[in-house]
Amino acid sequence: MKVIRDAVKAVLLVGGLGTRLRPLTYRIPKPLVPVLGKPLMMHVIDSLPPEVDETIIPVSYMKETMQEYLAKNPPRRKITLVDEPRPLGTGGAVKNVEDLLEGQGTFLVINGDSLSSLDVAKFVRFHKEKAGVATISLWTAEDVTPFGVVDIDEDSRIKRFQEKPKQEDAFSNLINAGAYALEEEVLGYMDKGFVSMERDIFPKILDDGMYGFSFEGYWIDCGKRESLLDAYWTLMGNEAESISKNCVSEGAVVKKPLIVGEGAVITGASVGPHAYISERVVIGLRSKVERSVLFEDARVGARCTIFDSIIDSGVTIPDGTEVRSEIVSNARDPKLK
Ligand code: GDD
Ligand code: MG
Repeated sequence: MKVIRDAVKAVLLVGGLGTRLRPLTYRIPKPLVPVLGKPLMMHVIDSLPPEVDETIIPVSYMKETMQEYLAKNPPRRKITLVDEPRPLGTGGAVKNVEDLLEGQGTFLVINGDSLSSLDVAKFVRFHKEKAGVATISLWTAEDVTPFGVVDIDEDSRIKRFQEKPKQEDAFSNLINAGAYALEEEVLGYMDKGFVSMERDIFPKILDDGMYGFSFEGYWIDCGKRESLLDAYWTLMGNEAESISKNCVSEGAVVKKPLIVGEGAVITGASVGPHAYISERVVIGLRSKVERSVLFEDARVGARCTIFDSIIDSGVTIPDGTEVRSEIVSNARDPKLK
C-alpha cells in the first residue's frame, strides 16, 4: 500500500571529506564552511519548505564539530544527526538511516555541497504527479564530466543514467543536480554497506519510473574553491555594497560588489570588485584584494595582492605577498599532528 503523507523527511548528504577545499576542511567540515557568514549546510536546510518536518544528517567525519555548531546555533527545524560508522557512500548513507524513513512513503535526499534555487515543494509535487519511484533535479552544464548525466524523453522520463562520463560519451548536457525525491521501495534495492546511489541504484530503478525535473535560477556546486567563490558572488549579486561603519579609511578604494563586516580595517588599500571581508579583518596600505573572501580576523599586510582566493580565519599574510587562486589556512592535516 502506498503511504500518502504531506510532510516529508529529508536526508542531507554531507559525509564527503571535502578534499577539494583543503586545507580549509582540515579545520571545519565542508557542511560548515561559511557562505556569506552562514554554513553551507544551513543554506540548504533553510531552502527546504515547511513540508519538510525533519532533516536527517548521517555524519562520519567531524561529528563533534557539527554537534557543537548545532548546540550553539539551535536550528528552528528538526535536525537529527545519525552516526555513520564509516563513509558508506551516497546510497549506503541513506540505507543506514532506513529505520527513520520506514512508513514515510516519499522522502528527499539532498547533496549538501551545492546551493540552488530549486523550489523543493514544486519538485515534490512534480514527483507525485509523475508517480514514479524517483525524481532527480536536473541542471544544464557545459562540462558534464564531473557529474551524473541523463538521457530523458519528452515526458521527462529518464531512460538512461551515467555517472561521470567522458565528454564524448555523454548522453546530453543535462546533469544530476543532486536532489532526489524517492519512494520508500527504493530502499529495497540497497544492500547494507557501501552503496553508490548514482552507480548502483539509479541504473536499477530506471524501469520502475525515474523522472527528471529541470529548474531555472542558479545551481552552484560548492565543492571546490572556484565554485565556492562563485557561490559568494551569485548570492551577493552585482549591486551588493554593505560596508560596516568606520571600516574604510581615507585613501582606500572600494568597488562593489563587496561586503565589509564589523570591526574590519581597510587602510589605503583597494578592495573589490567581488570581495567578502569578514569581521575584524585588517588590510594594509597599498594592498589589493579582488575576487576573494577573507574570513574573520585575517590580516593582510602592506603591498599584498590577494586574487581569486580564500583566506581562512586568523591567517596573517606578510607584507608584499602575492596570493592567487589559493586557499590559505593555518589548519593542518590532523593525521600529521
Ligand atoms: N553521509 C555520506 N556518506 N555522505 C556522502 C558520502 C558518504 O560516504 N560520500 C559523499 N557524500 C556526500 C557529499 O558530502 C556530497 O554532499 C554528496 O554526498 C555527493 O557526493 P560528492 O562526493 O560530492 O559527489 P560528486 O560531487 O562527485 O557527484 C555527485 O554530485 C553531483 C552534483 O553535485 C553525484 O550525485 C553526481 O551525479 C552529481 O551530478
Ligand atoms: Mg560534490
